[in-house]
Amino acid sequence: MKTKILKVLKSTSGYVSGQELCESLGVSRTAVWKVIRQLEEDGYSIEAVRNRGYRLLEGNDVFTEEEIRSILQTKQIGQNLVFLDIVDSTNNEARRQAEQGAPDGTLVVAVEQNAGKGRRGRSWISPKGTGIWMSMILRPNIPPEYASMLTLVAAMAVESGIRQVTGLTGQIKWPNDVILNDKKVCGILTEMSTEMERIHYVVIGIGINVSIREFPKELADKATSLLLCTGRIVSRARLTAAVAEAWEVYYGRFLQTLNLDLLIEEYNDNLVNRNREVKVLAPEGAYTGICRGINEKGELLVETSHDMRVVVSGEVSVRGIYGYV
Ligand code: BTN
Repeated sequence: MKTKILKVLKSTSGYVSGQELCESLGVSRTAVWKVIRQLEEDGYSIEAVRNRGYRLLEGNDVFTEEEIRSILQTKQIGQNLVFLDIVDSTNNEARRQAEQGAPDGTLVVAVEQNAGKGRRGRSWISPKGTGIWMSMILRPNIPPEYASMLTLVAAMAVESGIRQVTGLTGQIKWPNDVILNDKKVCGILTEMSTEMERIHYVVIGIGINVSIREFPKELADKATSLLLCTGRIVSRARLTAAVAEAWEVYYGRFLQTLNLDLLIEEYNDNLVNRNREVKVLAPEGAYTGICRGINEKGELLVETSHDMRVVVSGEVSVRGIYGYV
């Protein structure tokens, strides 16, 4: 009922009378009033005027299960939504849920992670209420070696979601960091479970720094947040929905060809160090070259003075020669 009332309030620009709500939902006035109180406790500003009814006021960063459900317009992602106040890591929770049979498209979202994980065994700071910490469970019918491409698709979805909600155009640092003002605003961690030659499930974990005001010293020159870039609070619920919706569009294109053919142009246009000199830190040694964009498998092409190298993601790190990007 909470989601239904919220949807009605959102779709109406003026007042919705208590009577109207009671009749359409078949409940008492007291029941409606109780839900309105709960919504206020969740952080919504609702104006109640005698003889007119209720009106939802603009501008908030309410981040609840109902808020996300009331905005989300996806076919699959988040139709099974697991919303948690606190969790060790949404990736860990998604893996636990996937092992229990959670369906394709399950979305795990948390307000806070106390053991957020980054790539290469690093930790990911995920303070309460300041970011989007979420993981999608996917069960694609593709060979395991194709899964690394999904991370690039996710980066495109995040950049697109940020653009739609904030108006800021981001860039992508290969393979999957999303960059604003030359600093990282989002990281993506993909994990999977395979059985024989097929994928059992893939978990794509997305961390977006939304309203972090200050980063630890060692991250300050590399990390940023939407608050620091826009100067305003961005609605985490709207952004979660926008990213999930964009994911479905880009993922749909990936599934058409099972490679990045239909996405490559847009990805390369957003690539932060395209046609710039980069340093590739590979296990066999470091080298520099000019970044020429990705191929249809999502591998990075780096032109050295001798040849064109094909960089496969994994243990390789690519940096701008003067710093992070
Ligand atoms: C990176 O190192 O760039 C990847 C960071 C991924 C962070 C996200 S936050 C949601 C999900 N849960 C985790 O523990 N990690 C990912």
